[in-house]
Amino acid sequence: MNFIDKEYEPKEDDLICLFRIEPSKNYTIKEAAANVAKESSVGTWTHIGTVNERAKRIKARVYDIDDPYVKIAYPKELFELSSIPQLLSSVGGNIFGMKLLDSLRLEDIRFPKKMLEKFHGPQVGIDGIRNLFSVYDRPMLGTIVKPKLGLGPKEHAKVAYKAWKGGLDIVKDDENLTSMSFNGFKKRVDETMKLKERAEKETGEKKEYMGNITAPVSEMKKRADYLIGKGSNYVMIDIITIGWSALQEMREYLVGKNVVIHCHRAGHAAFTRSKKHGISMLTVAKLTRLIGGDQLHIGTAGIGKMEGDQKKVLKIEEAIESMDVSEEGRRLDQNWGNIDKTFAVASGGLHPGGLPGLVDKMGKDIIAQFGGGCHGHPDGTEAGARAIRQACRAVMNGRSLEEASMENKELKKALDKWEK
Ligand code: 3PG
Ligand code: 3PG
Ligand code: MG
Repeated sequence: MNFIDKEYEPKEDDLICLFRIEPSKNYTIKEAAANVAKESSVGTWTHIGTVNERAKRIKARVYDIDDPYVKIAYPKELFELSSIPQLLSSVGGNIFGMKLLDSLRLEDIRFPKKMLEKFHGPQVGIDGIRNLFSVYDRPMLGTIVKPKLGLGPKEHAKVAYKAWKGGLDIVKDDENLTSMSFNGFKKRVDETMKLKERAEKETGEKKEYMGNITAPVSEMKKRADYLIGKGSNYVMIDIITIGWSALQEMREYLVGKNVVIHCHRAGHAAFTRSKKHGISMLTVAKLTRLIGGDQLHIGTAGIGKMEGDQKKVLKIEEAIESMDVSEEGRRLDQNWGNIDKTFAVASGGLHPGGLPGLVDKMGKDIIAQFGGGCHGHPDGTEAGARAIRQACRAVMNGRSLEEASMENKELKKALDKWEK
């Protein structure tokens, strides 16, 4: 079987993958690409006598080689269209360990229309989330309770309350805070939801708490139910550590419940960070949107503490926040059909001083989250939250933070601490 067909015109119903391939010594890019197409679709390392007509028809085809980038078209029959695990067992599977490659990276993916129809996508999406808060003209502002681990339920709730009181919209748990011996999930939810209501009454603003339900699936369902029972509109999940099957299952479980799924990506960099090998964050983001993550951490465009430069992060933001992306250079097109948009979350090492740059790069359709950059304020959490809200107001009014800090003492103190 020949797996290279440069004349092949990809069909609307093909799944397309863009790979970056570095062959090992003694192999050409063409040979390596053919082997990627073969192993990820119907073939194996040697000629076999069991190949039938169907296997020949549905094989993958390399149709474009721009060394080291290769595009491969996969007929939809190769996939169980409603299963991300099966998809990744093909295009994210054996191929990554083949000896004839030095490195391989799945850079981008385009889902066929038939596959989009099998998924729900985000249930609430960007518009739904903005409606929930009635906030339309600025980024959503949030914090992560810090320290990550150590506080008890009442202490946790108190920190959350101060952040809401100071002006933030959303408070979330940290990625490794679930149900600890010193901070059980239910107790934390009880205390935090109580003070959320108080903060709402006192500020006249809508507030939300994103409780981290990450756990084995059966337990996640119970925790989601518990949050919903307490009136929460949110659940937070560490999507990489729970796995794709679990995320699909949770999305299915939450159908019709109108709950926002906040997706934390802790652990993604184990396979997204190398520029040569692994699976790109762009691919992770598209899979998350397809399944139905409403909010996803995508990076801070070079401003905060995590890697991920502006170009890379903006590409991901466009992929999850627009309905139609056109093919361009090393990017595949994607029409999202009925799949709603996922709200981009910028989080990790942000403080009020970074907000102008962040909005300039990523626009106002982001959820900006500040952990240390809120609770590390010299006057504490509430002052930190005020400083963030003041910085946001200044940015949206086109004023410099320096100017705004003259009449906003919390912002001034924040800038003095982090900008000097
Ligand atoms: C596997 O799943 O382990 C591989 O498909 C092995 O197949 P092979 O013996 O044809 O390489
Ligand atoms: C997150 O989970 O997004 C981080 O905890 C952000 O925390 P930081 O703002 O202190 O880096
Ligand atoms: Mg964190």
